[in-house]
Amino acid sequence: MSELDLIQTLSHEEIQAIEIEIAHLPDRASAAIDALLIVQEHRGWVSDESLDAIARLLEMSPADLDSIATFYNLIYRKPVGRHVIMVCDSVSCYVMGCDKLCRQMEDKLGVKMGQTTPDDRFTLLPIVCLGACDRAPVMQIDEELIGPVAGDQLDQVLGRFE
Ligand code: FES
Repeated sequence: MSELDLIQTLSHEEIQAIEIEIAHLPDRASAAIDALLIVQEHRGWVSDESLDAIARLLEMSPADLDSIATFYNLIYRKPVGRHVIMVCDSVSCYVMGCDKLCRQMEDKLGVKMGQTTPDDRFTLLPIVCLGACDRAPVMQIDEELIGPVAGDQLDQVLGRFE
């Protein structure tokens, strides 16, 4: 990818925001997660083309950056809906019934875990411990942590996210 391709793939704002992160770090590759999040914030997800451009900017291989993106489950490598629902399936939430909550969410939205509703309103994803085990079962919609969640609250909760 040439410099021109890089500039055509990432916006000036994205490149500038990534360079600001790099300036605080010992090397360019250390900004990997920040850079992925910056591009995701602008585009909703990180395509292969965007990932290649970020890797070039960070002077690392696309394969190395992709493995970081895959490991970090808040980076979306496929398009997502307007709202992302993440249901915790770690131990405390499992004990408190997250399986049932997942099934209820699937029924309510008409999609399976990992899928997006046909109207692009919601993407439903599992996630590891959200660090709010005392509120289990917990889910997060966009930036909002919600829990404990009872099945009869789902309509009211989902209704807040158009
Ligand atoms: S196990 Fe679900 S928030 Fe910790």
